[in-house]
Amino acid sequence: WRQLLLFGLLALALTGCGKEELSALQPQGPVAAMQFDLMKLTTIIMTGVFVVVILILTYVLIRYRKRPGQTGIPKQVEGSHTLEVIWTVIPFLLLIIMAVPTVTAGFSLGKVYNSDEALQVRVTAHQFWWEFEYPDLGVATAQDLVMPVGQKVQFTLTSSDVMHAFWIPALGGKIDTNPGLDNKMWLQADRTGTFYGKCAELCGASHALMDFKVEVMEQDEFARWIEKMKGVQAAEPAAPASALALEGQQIFNKSCLGCHAVAGKGGKLGPNLTNFADRHLIAGILEHNEQNLADWLKDPEKVKPGNLMPNLNLDDQQVKALVEYMSTLSVQDK
Ligand code: CUA
Repeated sequence: WRQLLLFGLLALALTGCGKEELSALQPQGPVAAMQFDLMKLTTIIMTGVFVVVILILTYVLIRYRKRPGQTGIPKQVEGSHTLEVIWTVIPFLLLIIMAVPTVTAGFSLGKVYNSDEALQVRVTAHQFWWEFEYPDLGVATAQDLVMPVGQKVQFTLTSSDVMHAFWIPALGGKIDTNPGLDNKMWLQADRTGTFYGKCAELCGASHALMDFKVEVMEQDEFARWIEKMKGVQAAEPAAPASALALEGQQIFNKSCLGCHAVAGKGGKLGPNLTNFADRHLIAGILEHNEQNLADWLKDPEKVKPGNLMPNLNLDDQQVKALVEYMSTLSVQDK
């Protein structure tokens, strides 16, 4: 009993209730609301069934228990049409009550919106980071998904390596991302703010660290962000003002640009870093500050086991210069 209680409390603690940015129980958009309604409906029905069954069971155990002085076999009941009809019809009706909204929601969630109806975003999951592209707008980013408020966003999701799953608990989901396959899902955020995204499919050593952020902006703010990103990504990376940052840029161009794009230049193997300095986190999990960035650059494997970023064996001066340069990679007004 004590163990059971302990497990119960542990489970309760793990629900992490209360965080609006992360909670599927506090929906912040129509998809999450639909899914939450289904959860409520099925939980209420299942709880009802459980209570009724336990009550009947308890009643039967007590009412028909063996009493002192009783001998022989009790009266045998060979069957009852009335009872059989009742216990067939009631579950059938309950299943219908659950099935209708479930199937309706399924069709509604499975609807695919075209470019006229929804903002198109292509999501590619990688071990262990997220790539976000806006194909109609010619903009690419990573780790921080940027969305306008009150507008449908149509996601096309795939993976570059193994199976992952894309999940923004407060907005809805989740859906698998599979290599070589495009999955579709739409979401909408009804308020601005930052939400938490998770990888929800065991995908390797750093699965638990494969988080992302969702930045929901006012529509005009989002339009400005897109314009800035477009402008920057159409151009060559700008030369930074300070000498230290300039030194960092040279190191970056030599050692990092092969995998990471900045502005309109660079590889696609690692996250696009055009607006790196605007992001909430480093590598998706570390608080965004200079010390953490330095730690990450010095030993990526220590922070995120199994990731593809090599240890460049940078000395302290090189790290300092890189940190300085990377803090200039911003498209937002500070
Ligand atoms: Cu990607 Cu778990």
